[in-house]
Amino acid sequence: METETEMNTATRIIDALNWRYATKKFDPNRKISAEDMDTLTEAVRLAASSMGLQPYRFLRITDPDVRKELREVSFDQPQITDASEMIVFAAKTDYTDADIDDFLEESQKRRGFTDDQIADRKKSIQKHVAGFKGEDLLRWNARQMYIAIGQLLTTAALMKIDACPMEGIKAPEYARILNLDEKGLKAFAVVTLGYRSDEDGLADQAKIRLPREILFEEI
Ligand SMILES: Cc1cc2nc3c(=O)[nH]c(=O)nc-3n(C[C@H](O)[C@H](O)[C@H](O)COP(=O)(O)O)c2cc1C
Repeated sequence: METETEMNTATRIIDALNWRYATKKFDPNRKISAEDMDTLTEAVRLAASSMGLQPYRFLRITDPDVRKELREVSFDQPQITDASEMIVFAAKTDYTDADIDDFLEESQKRRGFTDDQIADRKKSIQKHVAGFKGEDLLRWNARQMYIAIGQLLTTAALMKIDACPMEGIKAPEYARILNLDEKGLKAFAVVTLGYRSDEDGLADQAKIRLPREILFEEI
């Protein structure tokens, strides 16, 4: 039998996931507090990634002029300029030996691995990364990043903060505006965050999801 607290947690999570929706119209006057942004960015930072490599970077775009420019290359989607916050999710286009060394240095600091352990780990990461051909490495990096996007959406929903995940962006234009080539990054998606406008008719629409019998199979 579940305790009352467990039941409350389950209800709270499912209610929050039903409450959230991909917000089309944000209230441009409502801003997310610095404290809440700390929580949201920490949730993104804590996302799981394969081997823990975190082959991505997040760009928080606060400059209104840059936001305007990005809206033009995001199919004029109003969320880009009207939401309180905008985070660009960019995957690393490569994963170099220098990236591996940075990661392992941090691992050693955190967990006190011996030099031999670090050397072994380096070999196994190098072998894994070398297994990808051409654009496959970029796509693998991007797949890790989408886990962080999911974590952000759920965290925001639990905090009653609205969000819209967005792939409707022109990646080459994002690269130009944000100097992503120089940074070894490629933009895949954006998450805009803030508070829904009263005028967003989509807020009350029923969710469209496949039934469990179709979505899940028990084997
Ligand atoms: C990867 C991804 C890309 C999306 N791109 C856009 C987008 O560019 N613009 C937009 O308004 N919604 C976008 N959406 C929102 C989806 O249309 C929405 O999540 C889906 O219809 C389910 O509805 P719900 O999130 O409101 O429950 C995107 C969602 C995901 C997960």
